[in-house]
Amino acid sequence: MNKILVVGAGGQLGIELVEGLRQLHGAENTIASDLKPFEETQLPEPYITLDATDATAVKGIIEEHNVTQIYHLAAILSAKGEKNPLLAWDINMRSLLTILEVGKMEKVEKIFWPSSIAVFGPDTPKTKTPQTTTMNPNTVYGISKLAGEQWCEYYFRKFGVDIRSLRYPGLIGYKTLPGGGTTDYAVDIYHKAIKGEVFNCFLDKDTRLPMMYMKDAVKATIDLMQAPSDRLTVRSSYNVAGMSFTPQEIFQSVRSHFPDFQIVYDPDYRQNIAESWPESIDDSTARSDWGWEHNYDLNSMTEDILSHLSQLLS
Ligand code: NAD
Ligand code: SER
Repeated sequence: MNKILVVGAGGQLGIELVEGLRQLHGAENTIASDLKPFEETQLPEPYITLDATDATAVKGIIEEHNVTQIYHLAAILSAKGEKNPLLAWDINMRSLLTILEVGKMEKVEKIFWPSSIAVFGPDTPKTKTPQTTTMNPNTVYGISKLAGEQWCEYYFRKFGVDIRSLRYPGLIGYKTLPGGGTTDYAVDIYHKAIKGEVFNCFLDKDTRLPMMYMKDAVKATIDLMQAPSDRLTVRSSYNVAGMSFTPQEIFQSVRSHFPDFQIVYDPDYRQNIAESWPESIDDSTARSDWGWEHNYDLNSMTEDILSHLSQLLS
């Protein structure tokens, strides 16, 4: 029987991934944890307050609950990272190395850790960015994710730790507000439309970025973790793609449901971050290795989000 520990579960991805994992493995076998106290999360029990950089605490929980799989999500994201680069480096690297080292010592069967399209930089081919290509990220978040990918591969090759990873595009969910990313505008826009407010967009109207609906991200994560180990040819991190769009295109998709909705473009420091990232991703290796397929495009995502979010906010 699998016993799952999700670390950094109180964020945008964790809230929905925990739900998917609980459906698969049972709520009693899926422990959510985060730095936040229980009262500050939307997560039901079982829940533990846990600092991912505290090796003694992580080890204690793995031993007490006989944890067989870890999903390590805790991180400082791109925009927040540029405001405090040393903090982002410290949290992102120290937490990953803690999980890898404790996972190795405790013989945890499988570990999942997310990377990001932020591993790519201005020298990377912009469209259909290949799995293996020039990277040179120019944000501290991207540098930490690229170093993290290399640490994952090192622990797999040197110590046999079965760690698996995805380079998520911008993730769009409606269940919680995002935590400091450059792609967050594409979450916020739905909340503003439903509240009848003008949307002030911090990216320029033609800035195309790779994105993915959260339901697809949860599916990709679970599919990767269930794939037979010998099918996986990538042990750094897999490119995965869902859709690519600009602020103007998502605005048009939302406005087809709210004809009076208005947008104002007011780019800030996040514009430079977005411009250093690819516009679209080639994920053919993920598709052929473990059968990755996405379900949602921009308009089907918009319909799904608006139908659920209007119920949640009413
Ligand atoms: P988020 O900011 O919403 O959530 C991160 C969570 O980590 C927060 O609940 C925070 O309290 C927790 N955390 C921070 N430091 C911690 C620590 N020391 N110990 C335990 N918990 C800690 O982020 P998210 O959007 O849910 O992203 C989850 C993961 O997915 C991150 O690794 C991120 O880099 C990656 N990712 C996200 C996106 C995206 O668009 N959201 C895209 C690519 C990759
Ligand atoms: N979507 C994330 C961000 O904008 C990238 O990992 O930071």
